[in-house]
Formats: sequence, structure tokens, C-alpha cells
Amino acid sequence: MKTKGGIRIAIAGVGNCASALIQGIHYYTPARCREEVVGLMHESVGGYRPSDIQVVAAFDIDARKVGTDVSRAIFALPNCVKTFEQDIPESGVTVSMGAVLDGLSEHMASYEPHRTFVLADAAQPTKAEVVEELRRSGAQILLNYLPVGSEQAARFYAECALEAGVGFINNIPVFIASDPDFAARFAARGLPIIGDDIKSQLGATIVHRVLTDLFAKRGVKLLRTYQLNTGGNTDFLNMKNQERLVSKKTSKTEAVQAVAKTRMENEHIHVGPSDYVPWQNDNKVCFVRMEGQIFGNVPMELELRLSVQDSPNSAGVAIDMVRCCKLALDHGIGGVLAGPSAYFCKHPPVQYTDDEAHEMVEAFIEAYAPEAVIA
Ligand SMILES: NC(=O)c1ccc[n+]([C@@H]2O[C@H](COP(=O)([O-])OP(=O)(O)OC[C@H]3O[C@@H](n4cnc5c(N)ncnc54)[C@H](O)[C@@H]3O)[C@@H](O)[C@H]2O)c1
Repeated sequence: MKTKGGIRIAIAGVGNCASALIQGIHYYTPARCREEVVGLMHESVGGYRPSDIQVVAAFDIDARKVGTDVSRAIFALPNCVKTFEQDIPESGVTVSMGAVLDGLSEHMASYEPHRTFVLADAAQPTKAEVVEELRRSGAQILLNYLPVGSEQAARFYAECALEAGVGFINNIPVFIASDPDFAARFAARGLPIIGDDIKSQLGATIVHRVLTDLFAKRGVKLLRTYQLNTGGNTDFLNMKNQERLVSKKTSKTEAVQAVAKTRMENEHIHVGPSDYVPWQNDNKVCFVRMEGQIFGNVPMELELRLSVQDSPNSAGVAIDMVRCCKLALDHGIGGVLAGPSAYFCKHPPVQYTDDEAHEMVEAFIEAYAPEAVIA
């Protein structure tokens, strides 16, 4: 068995997804992994196990999180993720105040504090201060978990990663890995980047894509489709502001269009977050309808309802993204990681089918997995 150093990560946005990831780091202990491992795509990625990941820095802007130890901030309101691991030891890492920029949508102020973001009154850091905190903490990778529509803030943290010399994982639909300029700058700095917009473990996107690919492979013409999503967490509340949704809709729609045999006209495909239902909390419900034609142009229809806990569903993928990013760092691989971005994200720079992307990820892990090293 390989024994390796840890993976030191920093997090921007200590919301539900970050909470699920951190709970998972503590849930998948080596002892539990000796039993049947449920819920991981890979128990080991090149010798790295979930418990090798350590959070060394975190940024948020919410009064209930800033200044709090990460182990407690992940359970602070308005987070509503299911607690599947409550035994999170004090980390010694305090959540730092982040740069707000466009992270906080005005409409969020109209909701009760337990449902929405509450801005901390701490002084906001400059870029130099965030870079300094990343360097001081020894972070190797920065994960972006900001709200949808945080265009300026996402770019700000990506710039900080570039300057601090850390890898970047862009979980949100702001186009950074798929922006040729940013991609080139990460490559030039020899820093890996995975993005954009994390694709959940068994979520609406991968199910819709796999079915779309199935239609193509089985010779069924896909005429029209929709994917309606409802949820009750702050991600869904934030997305009530339609102006923040442009890149989210592009990312989710392109993920489906990319695997269709022929592109559907825009008005024949509707994919996106559809409504905020408070009592659903972190439960996301997705309704998919696909209308097509089989042999002899005969019509067919498919209806599907998927119900998942949104944030653990993303963490099941993030836990592999982090470890692939670390493998790239270990091997001096910079720029966009094509296979991991295609398999783990909705809007990679280049789209592949999920079968192809899966093979690329497996090949990446195999190619860059170091031989057994006893540290
Ligand atoms: N759940 C999924 O499966 C999934 C899938 C794809 C993408 N995503 C995306 O991941 C992101 C995170 O999702 P979530 O459910 O954790 O959201 P969340 O609302 O629970 O968390 C966002 C966090 O960011 C903080 N924040 C806001 N502005 C900030 C700033 N400028 N600097 C630092 N922190 C700031 C908020 O206070 C909050 O703690 C969202 O953009 C979401 O769309 C999630």
C-alpha cells in the first residue's frame, strides 16, 4: 500500500457542496474503506485516498461562517446539507473573509436569514491578501464553490490561484477552464485546472446525457426535450435571479446538445433550474421529458423523475477532481486536464460522450499514478 503526503486544499465558498466534501473526507476513513466502500468512483486515485485531503484555507462572506473554524462553519446556516458525518474534528483553520464582488445577489436580501446569505462586516481582502493566505497556508489547490453568476468573483479567485501558484478546480458555471485565455495562462504557469461547472455523481446532467447518447446510438431521433429542476437550498434561491443564470443555462444545455446526434433547435430544448421550493432544502428533484421517433418515424416519449441530495451528489465527484488535480501537480502537468474536465464537468473546453470521458479519466489516473512509494 502506498503511503503519500496529503493534499492541501483551499475553498472559496463554504456552502453546502463544500460541507458535503469535507464531511466525506472524514467519512471515508481508512478503516471504513477496508469495509465495503459505497459512494466512491475511486477509493484510490494514484494512491491518494479521500482521507489524504486536508482543508488548509477557506474563504466566505457570511457572518455565520467568517471567523469560525471550518469544522463548524460547514454546518452553519444557511447550509442545509444532510449531515452524514458529524464527527468532524476542530481543524484549526478559520474561515477568512472573502472578496464579495458579485458573489451576493441583491434579491437574496429579501429572504429570512436562515434561508439566505448574511454579509459579514469584516474587511474584505485585497487580491494580494488572498494570495498571501493561499501561500501561507501551503494550499496546493483552490476549489471554487461560489454562487452561480459570480462572474467577477470567480475570475478574482482564479487570478489569485494563478498568482499564488496553486491548481484550480472550477465547480461553477463561469467559464474559466473553457476560456482559452485563462486556460493558456494556467498552462504557461504549469498549473492544472479542471472545469467548468461540476457534473454531479448521478445527477440530472449525466442521466440526461446518457439517455441522449442512447437515443443517438439506437437510431432514435430526438425531437424535443426538457429538464426541469427544483430545489430548496441557497444554490436554487440564488438562481431565482434570472440575470445570474445565463452561463448556467448555457452550460447545462450544451452538456445535452453535445451528445445529441444532431443539435436540436434552441426552442426544442429547455434545460435549467426551474424553481425554488424551500421545504425541499438540499433535495433536488429533476423531471426529464424526451420526445423522439423510432423505426418508421413512429413517435415515442420518455418521462423520468430523479430525486437526489444535491450536495453529496457533487462531492462524490469533487473527491476525485481534487485527487486528479494533485496527480497532475505531482507530475508537473499544467493547463486544462482534458479527461477529468470532460468527465467531471458540464462545460469542459472539449466535450466527449461520458463513455469516452470515463476512459480518458481512467487512462489519466493510470498514466500519472506514481509507482508505489513509501514516503
Ligand atoms: N450541488 C451540485 O451538484 C452542483 C453542481 C454543479 C455546480 N454547482 C455549483 O457549485 C456552487 C456551490 O454550490 P453550493 O450548493 O455549495 O452553494 P451554496 O449557496 O451553499 O454556497 C455558496 C457559498 O459561497 C459563499 N460566498 C458567496 N459569495 C462569496 C465570495 N465572494 N467569496 C467567498 N464566498 C462567497 C456563500 O456565503 C456560501 O457559503 C454553486 O455555484 C452551484 O451552482 C453545484
